Order: sequence, then structure tokens, then C-alpha cells
Amino acid sequence: MTTDSLLPNQTNKGHIGDPLSRVDGHVKVTGAARYAAEYTTPDLLYGWVVSSPIAKGRVTAIDDAAARAIPGVVDVITHENRPHLAWLDHSYADMVSVPGSPFRALYDDKIMFSAQPLALVVAESLEAARDAAALVRVDCEAEPHNTDLRVAMKDKFEPKKKRSTFEAPKSRGDALVAYEQAALKHRAEYHLGTHHHNPMEMHATTVFWHGDGKITVHDKTQGAQNVQGYLASVFGFSKKDVRVLNRYVGGAFGSGLRPQYQVFLATLAAKKLERSVRVVLTRQQMFSHVHRPEAVQTVALATDHDGRLQAIINDATTPTSRFEHYMEVVCNWGLMAYACDNASGEYTLAEVDTYTPGDMRAPGAATGMTLFEIAMDEMAFEAGLDPLEFRRLNYAEKNAMNDTPYTSKALREAYNRGSEAIGWKDRPLAPRATKEGHELVGWGMATGMWDALFMKTAATVTLLADGTLLVANAGADIGTGTYTVMTQVAAETLGVPVSKIQARLGDSELSAAPVEGGSWGAASTGAAVQLACESMAKQLLKAAAKIDGSVLHGAGFDDVEFRDGVIRLKADPSKQVSLTDALAATGKDRLEVEETAKPGPMDLISTMRKSRNTHSAVFAEVKVDEELGVVRITRVVCAVAAGRIINPKTARSQILGGVVMGIGMALHEETLTDHRFGRFMNHSFAEYHVPVNADIDSIEVIFVDEPDPEVTPLGVKGLGEIGIVGTAAAVANAIFHATGKRVRSLPVTIDKLL
Ligand code: MOS
Repeated sequence: MTTDSLLPNQTNKGHIGDPLSRVDGHVKVTGAARYAAEYTTPDLLYGWVVSSPIAKGRVTAIDDAAARAIPGVVDVITHENRPHLAWLDHSYADMVSVPGSPFRALYDDKIMFSAQPLALVVAESLEAARDAAALVRVDCEAEPHNTDLRVAMKDKFEPKKKRSTFEAPKSRGDALVAYEQAALKHRAEYHLGTHHHNPMEMHATTVFWHGDGKITVHDKTQGAQNVQGYLASVFGFSKKDVRVLNRYVGGAFGSGLRPQYQVFLATLAAKKLERSVRVVLTRQQMFSHVHRPEAVQTVALATDHDGRLQAIINDATTPTSRFEHYMEVVCNWGLMAYACDNASGEYTLAEVDTYTPGDMRAPGAATGMTLFEIAMDEMAFEAGLDPLEFRRLNYAEKNAMNDTPYTSKALREAYNRGSEAIGWKDRPLAPRATKEGHELVGWGMATGMWDALFMKTAATVTLLADGTLLVANAGADIGTGTYTVMTQVAAETLGVPVSKIQARLGDSELSAAPVEGGSWGAASTGAAVQLACESMAKQLLKAAAKIDGSVLHGAGFDDVEFRDGVIRLKADPSKQVSLTDALAATGKDRLEVEETAKPGPMDLISTMRKSRNTHSAVFAEVKVDEELGVVRITRVVCAVAAGRIINPKTARSQILGGVVMGIGMALHEETLTDHRFGRFMNHSFAEYHVPVNADIDSIEVIFVDEPDPEVTPLGVKGLGEIGIVGTAAAVANAIFHATGKRVRSLPVTIDKLL
């Protein structure tokens, strides 16, 4: 490879559909991109969190004398000396809150979970703060706690107050009777362990105290405006005095959807001390807040003699904290995915003494669809059918739970393309049929599903006299490619070269945008940018047509195209006016246009509603050492139906990342609790295992054609999450096929296989 070929984006224009390299790639790999903990000022103070040693109880005394004696220590902030805080739960709510009472650090003496922050040591240096934090003595009075889901399940309940994104499972027919009467059955309980998000970048906040009532907050978050609103209402700032920035985010996977306690503590300290403050959590402390809840799911399936589904019973319980009810859609996917007249689902919560769980990449689906797809594999085996044939036989054209048509569902094509790529037709039906040396070889598959969401989002485009186009909103790019996608949509719509476009995100002062989550970023920000560019295009044409003797005089919007920095007649491309001349003709040196994209009124009428989903077919090949139980995942093929692909390169990266995380879910990831202490014990990368490069072999990503002008304005469905859904099931099913051993609890660790 010559060095020339490493230069970014020389050969393509970056229009929609081009594999444009990340526009933020250069600043990221050169270290020029700055993250929340990298902003600094000479008089910066450093906060270090003191965490609770017990899971439940009360703080009875705090002795901070030794800590305060360390040179450089400025304060030890606790519930006893903190400044005034809002007291209504409502003030602590954020854009993605769940029902309940949001956690408030240092509010009172109550301890509700292990490693809860109980004090913040603030010092002139990080070293002094850390040193002093070890000397803070916190006396606690412990109360009985429970962190064991199995124990808590005795009091499980259906969530009464629902979060807005939650949809309870809907039953149809009589699943119990159909199950009893059916010819072939399978029923089993499945389990998924707790996961922690573990983004590369720790949760961190640097607050700049300006001394004029204003603060600037560099925060690791998926939503600058979400944090802005939260800080304003908690600390009594006027919203306009709080500016939150998150231009670059080192991964999040959902951990940054809600404001986490580091931003609260850093702002609290800044307000109390009237100084600039930084708080960075340690990797261990990253295990003290949000996590993907573990799950217990019971699946009962029944078919007739031919393998046609007669009954689906899909019940699940996930834990939540005692102070908030976090819920996710776990059961619905199985009820939606397959044609079957009788289906029921029950989703329940159980309270434990931990921090509130939260959204993690494909929340609910990664859990519920994955475990369900292991059950589907078992049912296929019971019916003597090939697992792919079994799914084709029970294919649902419509959303089978809501009886609504899909805007599009090219899952059949994903099955075809994916199975062809992995060579599924050569797979022996029986398990334990293939051996290579000391390894058993197996092939498994699963279906994946996720939502295709579209959120109300604004964007501003600004054309400058030198032809530069600024494209902006307050959304975030958490590594997903939003900067690149918005650049391409603008390039396509206004015909401005990529080199002339500057995308801006991660600033609460920019146009209104939701948190970056739910895989809605490309569809929503893309639609807003397109709308703003179209609006600007119309204004520029109007101005260009009015220029004296203009070649575009009398041209309508449909008569022209915007390409290569000019407006030109479609009929005669030699007749053109440059965008900069058009701008000059407006009499202004810059033209700024803001537009808001939102779902149309038809989408809100429930009787007209269609289901909007992405689908995938995941295939895995594994090799299992027969004596040692070591699993190698040698191939994964993920065939995805996700509407229009704006950028095949960043799209592929999203699926690769999702599949890698799915491999972690299959073989590695689980946070283990010592219930005696109510504490997550493996809170480090030495003991919380994620896949590393050596664990990853061939991953093939396929995007099937799925034109869908209806789902969102750009026909985009979103890709951030679908890659993880079902992947772990494909692996677990392949392990069964290789070894004949069924493991119903993820991750499939060696001890479970031996
Ligand atoms: Mo995603 S779990 O909505 O960041």
C-alpha cells in the first residue's frame, strides 16, 4: 500500500452511498480531538470520589481531618456541608428518565448501593485529592440488603408507571392451551448476566467556573442539552448560563444517556468553591453506576408435527433499583418476530439494592431476542428441522404482536445472503458431526431485530462567503459516524464538496437535538440536515435567478441541480451560478438556515401506524476444543436489512462493533456480584472480560437491499444497535451444534461447557 492510498477521501465526493472515511478520523488518530477530562485551566481543582463500602444503610459519621491535613486539599464535600440542592424529584429528571426518584449524590445520609459516592475530596492536584480520599473515614450503619435477583423475584411485579419508550407485551390467542395441546414442545429458562458498558473513555467532567454566573461544562455524555437542562434545574442555574460541550465522546453504549454522578459532583464542587473543577471516575467506579440488568427469561414454544409454531410463551424478569423502575422491552421481540396464533408474554421487575440499571446497546432486544433465539434453536432441534428452515417456515410478514405491517422487512433476503455467505447448505443437521483435529466444529444462526426510530431534531446550515458550509446541531457523535453522515447528506443535497463542509456537534448552544441513542442519529440528524439544506437551496436559487442577466432566470427548483459548488440547469449544465455568487446576490456575507425534522402527523395516528424495524440474520462458526472447552469463533456473518445505507464504511463499522460486543456477550462479559457484600466484584478489565483483537476472527457484514421511502425521510433505519442483537444466540447455537451441549446462561464460559 502506498502512503497516498492512506490519505482520506481523495477519490470520492462523499455523496450518500459513498464509503467516505470518517471526517473526524484525522483529529482522533492524531490526538487533536479533546475529551471531557482533557480541557484545563491553570487554577483547576481536582475531585476524587469516596465510595460506599456497604450496599445499604446510613452514614453515621465522616471524619475528614486527616484528609484535610494533606497539602493542597481544598475541601471534602459531603451531605453535611454541601450547598443547597433542588429537593423535588422532578428537578432531577432528564430526557431519558425512568419512573421513580433519580439518584442524588451527597444528598443525605442514606446509602442505597455499594460504591455509592459519599464524599468528594477536592484538591489543587489530582494526586493530593486521591491521597486524601484514602484518608476520609466514613462510618456506616449497615442494613440488610439484597442484590440477588433470584431472591428478589419472589416479589416481582409488572411495572405500573411506564417510561415513554416502553411497550408492554401484548398477548394473542390462548398460548397456554395451545401449548398443552401441541404435538411438539420445548420449555426452558434462560439467563443473561449483568453487563457494564465500559466505554474506553471514563465518565469525566471538567467544569469551568467563569465567575459571572455562567459555567461551561465539558462532559462525557450522549446528550449535551440533556445535561444542560439537568444541571440548570438541579443547581438553580438559568439554562442560558450553562453551556455543555461533548464534541468527542470515547464510546458510551448508553452509559452516557442520562447524566451520571460525576457531572453532578463536579458542578456541585464548582458551585460551592466558585472554582473550576474536574472529576474523573476510575475504571472501578465505572462499575458503580449504570449497567445492563441481568435477566431471567422463560420461553415455552410448541409446534405441530411439521414444525409450525402453535404457541409462544415468553416471560422475563429484570432487576431494577429500589429508587427507580428501569424497564426495557425484553419479551416483545419474540412475540413480534414469528407467525403464531397463540402467544403471550409477561415482563416483570424485581427490586434489588443496586444503582438503577439502564440502556445498553439494543436494550431489551440484545437480552430478550438473543435468549429467545436460543429457545428457537432448541425448538427446531426438537422438531427435527434445520434452524434456518424453521425460521423461514414461521416467517411473519407483519409484526405478529401488533398485527401491523412493516414499512419494509427484507429479512428473507438477509437469511438468503447470510446463509449463502457462510455455506449453510453444507451444514450437517446433527450436532457433533464435524471434527477438525481436537476441535469440534459447529454452525449456528439467529434472527436479530431492533427499532428504526426517528426523533424530532433540528439542524442549522450556514454558508460563508468563501464557500464553506457549516452543518450543526447539539447532537453527539459517540463514535457512530454522525459527523460523517451529516457531512454526506449536506454534500449530496447542496452539492458542496466534502472538503468545504465543517460538521459541528456536541454543544448545547447548537440547534435542538435529542440524546444520541436508540440508533436514531443518522435518520434524525440526517433528515434535519437535508431539510435545512433544501431550504437553503431554495433561497440560493431565488437569489441566483435574480442576478442581472442570470442564466438561471426563470428556472424552477425542479429545473436545477446542486453539484460541485454550483447551481446548474439540468437541461444544460453549462448554465450555472456558483453558490458563493448566489450568496453574494442575497446581499449578505453569510446565509444561515435552521429547520426541524419531525415525524409526520400520520405516524402519530395509531390506526395508521406501521411497524418500523431493522432485521438481521446472524450466522456463526465455532470451533470448540473437545477436552479443554475453549471456544474459538472463527466466522461470523451478519446480514442486515436496515433500509438505506448512507455510508457503507461507517455502517460496516457499526455492525462490526455490535458483533464484537455480541461475541463478548456470548463468551466473556458478565459482572459478578458477591451477594454477601452486595457488590460487583470483577470491577476491572483484568476480571471483567471483553473480546480483544485475538478473540476476533472473520466477521463479514452484508447489507441487503431494502428501499424504504416511508420509514424516515432519508429511508434510513439506523445501525448502531442491530449488530449486537442475536449474535450471542448464533454463537451459543453454534456451540450446541459443535458439542451437543446446550448452555442456557450467557456468557458460555468454559466451566459451563465442561
Ligand atoms: Mo443507546 S443504549 O440508546 O446509547
